[in-house]
Amino acid sequence: MSGKWVFFDLDGTLTQSEEGIFNCVKYAAERMGFPVPEEAVLRKFIGPPLIHSFQEYLGMTEAQAWKAQEVYRERYTTVGKFENQVYPGVRSMLRALAGAGARMGVVTGKPENSTRDILAHFGLIGFFEGISCAADARAEKEHLIRAILPEDAEEAWMVGDRRFDMEGGTAAGVHPLGVTYGYGSEEELRTAGAERIAHTPWEVAEIICPGVRKPAGAFLSVEGTDGSGKSTQIGLLTRTLEKYGFEVVHSREPGGTPIAEKIREILLDRGNGEMCAETEALLYAAARAQHVREVIRPAVAAGKVLLCDRFLDSSVAYQGGGRRLGVDRVLAINEPAVGDTLPLMTVYLDLDHRIGLQRRSRAAELDRLEAEEEDFHARVEAGYHELISRNPARYAVVDARMSREEIAERIASAVLSRLMEAEH
Ligand code: TYD
Repeated sequence: MSGKWVFFDLDGTLTQSEEGIFNCVKYAAERMGFPVPEEAVLRKFIGPPLIHSFQEYLGMTEAQAWKAQEVYRERYTTVGKFENQVYPGVRSMLRALAGAGARMGVVTGKPENSTRDILAHFGLIGFFEGISCAADARAEKEHLIRAILPEDAEEAWMVGDRRFDMEGGTAAGVHPLGVTYGYGSEEELRTAGAERIAHTPWEVAEIICPGVRKPAGAFLSVEGTDGSGKSTQIGLLTRTLEKYGFEVVHSREPGGTPIAEKIREILLDRGNGEMCAETEALLYAAARAQHVREVIRPAVAAGKVLLCDRFLDSSVAYQGGGRRLGVDRVLAINEPAVGDTLPLMTVYLDLDHRIGLQRRSRAAELDRLEAEEEDFHARVEAGYHELISRNPARYAVVDARMSREEIAERIASAVLSRLMEAEH
């Protein structure tokens, strides 16, 4: 017996492809000299064959529609197919099903090349043992399922968002499971014979493997000297990770919880000039202890990717280096605060502290640490470099003098490959 099999439709079930479809229809309309359709019309292009839609919705002749399809495909196969995003929670669902021993495949009306490229681009292809594709999305789902359904499967499911998926599943003798977060309505799915309905990807995992546990997410930190551009890059990285279907949450240190935010106020208050280095290090650690327990551990346990603006490395660099407490003493002070909660990966925005301070002093009023003399910031920078040389594998070091877009691209590629590596 070959166990439990789960087949997924692609568009509307694993990925949300409308951006690419809309852009390609607009491109084809423009190139053919037709007015660019509005969004309500563009929506109608999701699902049915293009030849039909170009005639029906844009008023083309059949010959024009064939030409328009060619133009559409020219853009789709190069850029359009990647203007696509994985639904939030799909990655956790696939990981959980794989972890529970389910075997998976993709059944779609899309051409095989595009399907493979999309799954590979988003790092999902490794989850699937089989891919069954055809040029015509409509009538053939039953045959597409039969083509990859092993005869000795004990149990099999077809998961999809449209009636064709439910009808095809029923005809092929597998359990049809409808998802309502895609393009079809619950009514459409029920009428077409859906045996079960899921409103989120996670519900799919729970229906197919009752009692399944959410796989852990990941904890990532972003570090850099003052003025290195962390906040901007955290925003850009978040958008990219969400396109890949990761569920991202943010936090920052010192802070991230009400208690830790109060400690932050004490730490950054320029009126607290008499604070000694030991008090400072202990307060950062105290705020961190609360943050780790109240925010970081629960988020990771709930399958999220937690992006933290500064973490333990900041203490090592600022209090260990800047305040001269030394790396080992700062690590010892922080041990009870963090335990084994350390980032899977740390992005370090590498910028000469002098450039950072120039940028910073233009931008805003300086807090107690930023207002320190230049030597302090030089020691902070040296502290970071020492940490990186002790454990280079944990860091993605990115030159923060490059353009915003270039920095974002480097960070995204390093972070995505580390996250995907951790998924299997
Ligand atoms: P913040 O305004 O968050 O600075 P930034 O925008 O540069 O991240 O202030 C945090 C300040 O606290 C920053 O100067 C670095 C410092 N800091 C430490 O000295 N030790 C620590 O452990 C942490 C987390 C921050």
